[in-house]
Amino acid sequence: MKQYIKADEWKIIEEGFVPSYNKISESIFSVGNGRMGQRGNFEETYTGETLQGNYIAGVYYPDKTRVGWWKNGYPEYFAKVLNAANWIGIRVQIDGEELDLHTCTVESFRRELNMQEGYLQRSFTATLPSGKQVAVTSTRFCSIVDDETGVISYSVTPLNFSGLLTITPFIDGDIKNQDSNYDEKFWDEISRDVHPSGAFITLRTKKTGFDVCSGMHFCVTQRGEQLDLPTEAITKEKFVGISCSLAVKANEETVIYKYAANLSSENHPREQLLSACEMQVNAIVAKGFDMMLQEQKEAWAAKWAESDIVIDGDVSAQQAIRFNIFQLNQTYTGEDARLNIGPKGFTGEKYGGSTYWDTEAYCVPFYLATADARVTKQLLLYRYNQLGKAIENAEKLGFNKGAALYPMVTINGEECHNEWEITFEEIHRNGAIAYAIYNYIRYTDDKSYMADYGLEVLIGIARFWNQRVNWSEARKQYVMLGVTGPNEYENNVNNNWYTNMLACWCMDYAIQSVQFVRESAPDKFRTLTHKLQFNDAEEIGKWQHIIDNMYLPVDEERGIFLQQDGFLDKEQILVKDLPADQRPINQKWSWDRILRSCFIKQADVLQGIFFFEENYDLDTIRRNFDFYEPRTVHESSLSPCVHAVLAAKLGDERRAYEFYLRTARLDLNDYNNDTEDGLHITSMAGTWMSIVHGFAGMRVQNDRLIFNPFIPGKWKAFSFNIAFRSAIINVQINKEGVHLINRSAKAVNITIEGKEYLLNAHTKLDIKTEKVNVEVV
Ligand code: BGC
Repeated sequence: MKQYIKADEWKIIEEGFVPSYNKISESIFSVGNGRMGQRGNFEETYTGETLQGNYIAGVYYPDKTRVGWWKNGYPEYFAKVLNAANWIGIRVQIDGEELDLHTCTVESFRRELNMQEGYLQRSFTATLPSGKQVAVTSTRFCSIVDDETGVISYSVTPLNFSGLLTITPFIDGDIKNQDSNYDEKFWDEISRDVHPSGAFITLRTKKTGFDVCSGMHFCVTQRGEQLDLPTEAITKEKFVGISCSLAVKANEETVIYKYAANLSSENHPREQLLSACEMQVNAIVAKGFDMMLQEQKEAWAAKWAESDIVIDGDVSAQQAIRFNIFQLNQTYTGEDARLNIGPKGFTGEKYGGSTYWDTEAYCVPFYLATADARVTKQLLLYRYNQLGKAIENAEKLGFNKGAALYPMVTINGEECHNEWEITFEEIHRNGAIAYAIYNYIRYTDDKSYMADYGLEVLIGIARFWNQRVNWSEARKQYVMLGVTGPNEYENNVNNNWYTNMLACWCMDYAIQSVQFVRESAPDKFRTLTHKLQFNDAEEIGKWQHIIDNMYLPVDEERGIFLQQDGFLDKEQILVKDLPADQRPINQKWSWDRILRSCFIKQADVLQGIFFFEENYDLDTIRRNFDFYEPRTVHESSLSPCVHAVLAAKLGDERRAYEFYLRTARLDLNDYNNDTEDGLHITSMAGTWMSIVHGFAGMRVQNDRLIFNPFIPGKWKAFSFNIAFRSAIINVQINKEGVHLINRSAKAVNITIEGKEYLLNAHTKLDIKTEKVNVEVV
């Protein structure tokens, strides 16, 4: 755990340069706009430890699978979102001497991420080996208005000398993914083009053939006046730069503005990519840095108006939740149904930047409540558009007749994961995709989604479960053998309760949805039955038979659902009895020891209760929570948030707050020692859930918004806006109770602590609640 980030409500601040923290900070200070993302790297040369990272959404490379022992059914490749051309580079030389913080004495170093306005700023004073001192300030952002562009203002002031300043803004396409399986580079150069003030380079990904044209323009100013300087083109393979030199005087500031664009052939015709890039660069140059920054601030103000959570009385918590919300909004904007949310977003290479069940299980609730319904719909359409591939994926494993198995990891719909116990066995992911459809419709009331898209996916998923279970003669029930539940610390188990339960729920939901579409949209239903060769009587009959006869393991004595058939055969030890030096077990123990232990990586039975809590009474939830949580090591960042929400539901506010603390500053404090690999973007949505679904106790049930709130003792109040079915509701929870303001023209049904209210359009509701301020620290 590290505590070097300064507390501030709206900013992330690092003061002082600690090279050993640099890669952590590069992740934390990432900026992005849903189309591209850039780690908090330096513009000038840095020869110290760094992970240079710039990622373009949707552009990936299928890196050939590397495994020790090939198994039939493995995917051929792992799709990686590519580290793309470095567009931020500005080389700085003073009288021929390189500005490189690795070789300088650095003072007054400060990195500051302004989350409110959406930009990154950095300043420092460097003493070069020659003794010359310069002060540097840079500001940069990826524009969320012109989302294929990024801009930088970079100022250099000599402090104790007059001399020759040489600057070389460049684009370097000679980039390698650190996680390349075979140490290969993934880009080929297509073209290079340099004018006096602009440079363009087009690179093509090997195998996938995506073209990305990166272009830049720059200008140099002093005292606000643009200088007309002779320039020299510098080009070499996969590299374009433009160099210019000028005489500078002590204490005289020179500012370089660099305008850059990254356009991909995913969004532009390949043959027009260069001209489109030139046009885009010219357009932002014409706008100018100041205007772009102004637009950026306004666009971020609009995003914050929808998604902010305001915490009164705890600056550290305020900073943390805003950081989580900021990063989520930088990663996904809902502009493009081909894009999704990788566990690390655009902040690192781990996990390949691809889509996991994290999106449906964790991120969907965040976007549902903080953005227009269109944004979540795009996430759902991503899976709808990949249904064909999910069917192919199931076929590769031996399923047929339209059974769909969505991948554990994907970019384009094809499975990329290549550990058999996950690829073939962690099939619960299919359930999360069905659950997201349910969640979306229940939240938005967009019932037309079911006939238009949802049902087709649900039928594919139900067909898969139908084939994946088998009848056990011994039990005279259906069973599901050889699976991995969300707890990846045991594999190849039989009858994982979560998977069996979720499979039944999926089939039940599919049956209800078939009936709904058959009645509400008979024409669409006919077309669909024809397209899918869906024999509803026969298929539904089979699904129902499975639902009615599925084996769901329970332990009657303890009154709990059993994680899997053999769980109680394991030696039962509690996490509290594990010596601290043995944790995290995934770094300290052999895999074999982990598999045989009862330690649980992340919510498993509790994930099921979390999804369907209305199906269980409080005692059942408590018994399961009290049994499983003490055995859970929370070694997935997705774990604490589920426990925070359930602890709040059980009235255990102290623990709810404790779990929340483990997720909220996970990256800011580098709790797991892995922030340098990138941020835990998908679990950030879980942090948001801990507050909104946990502390505020918000749920959507029967067309009503429900709140059962409390405030952690340290906080005076907290508030947030919720977008709910074209209404925008401001929710404030303080020591007296709940205060709601309906900022829209639509009335909303509300339930607070079990009492029902109608919150009319443009009205307020102030309700005293019983349990508001709870001492939790
Ligand atoms: C978790 C998975 C998750 C993946 C990506 C793993 O550590 O166990 O549930 O999907 O990380 O976040």
